[in-house]
Amino acid sequence: MNSSSPDIHIDAADNAEYQRQLSLFSKCSTENGIELIKTGMVIETLPRRERFLDIGAGGGHLTIPIAQQFGMTTIVEPNPCQAEIFQRRCPDFRIYNNCWIDIDLGDKRFDLILCSHVLYYIPEGIWMQTVEKMYRYLSPDGCLIIVMQSPLGEVADFFNSFTTYDVPILDLARDVIDLYGDDAVLLQYFQNEIYSESLDDVVEIGLFLLLDQRFDARKSEIAEYFRMHHKVNGGYLIKQDEILLVIRKSPGHIGTAEG
Ligand SMILES: C[S@@+](CC[C@H](N)C(=O)[O-])C[C@H]1O[C@@H](n2cnc3c(N)ncnc32)[C@H](O)[C@@H]1O
Repeated sequence: MNSSSPDIHIDAADNAEYQRQLSLFSKCSTENGIELIKTGMVIETLPRRERFLDIGAGGGHLTIPIAQQFGMTTIVEPNPCQAEIFQRRCPDFRIYNNCWIDIDLGDKRFDLILCSHVLYYIPEGIWMQTVEKMYRYLSPDGCLIIVMQSPLGEVADFFNSFTTYDVPILDLARDVIDLYGDDAVLLQYFQNEIYSESLDDVVEIGLFLLLDQRFDARKSEIAEYFRMHHKVNGGYLIKQDEILLVIRKSPGHIGTAEG
């Protein structure tokens, strides 16, 4: 594992809590399944399936099944606990325990680069620079897939009741089309469902989505919100709207990783 001191500090208790919420989310959400289907449709169009790069691989729910279709998988994951889990579970992966912006992958190029639910952690002012760096690491005809929560829909409404969710994903899509041309860019909207019979589980998932431990103190308000807005026969159902942005590198456009 390549480990160069990322500034994400996670203690054991925080990590155990994060892992618990992550596996609850994975159990109750159809997201990974739908994302794998959408990603699979892009993979089918790739002329080569040699190298896969997952940026912000998290718990590996997408990484591991996608990796089965590629000769070599590389991950960039700044969370040291997640990186260590990968090291044990997937010893063949090349693992960089660092933030994307600090990484130098030299002359390596990838047929597929995935960046799923990661841009929220990166300041909006450097999104384009971040995406351009990803694009430069694509092999000719390779694809970059960016997945993000939509600013519309039930999860966005939930966010906006407790904080604000106004990430400029559509601005990013416009800037990407301006830079790479609309022939190179595909924008898809999809919806998944989060369902549980237990209100406690749904509240835990709400806390996981809010990404900020300060909301732990507002558990009862969050429970009331889900009771009011998402109660269905037998449980609680929340629809999650997501955006998938695919950028394909034109074969003539090789580029360098530096600029
Ligand atoms: C919400 S999780 C997404 C996990 C996985 N990609 C998925 O879609 O299920 C976000 C992941 O991005 C990682 N991350 C945060 N900042 C990052 C950065 N600057 N560069 C790369 N990864 C980052 C986090 O450590 C975390 O594992």
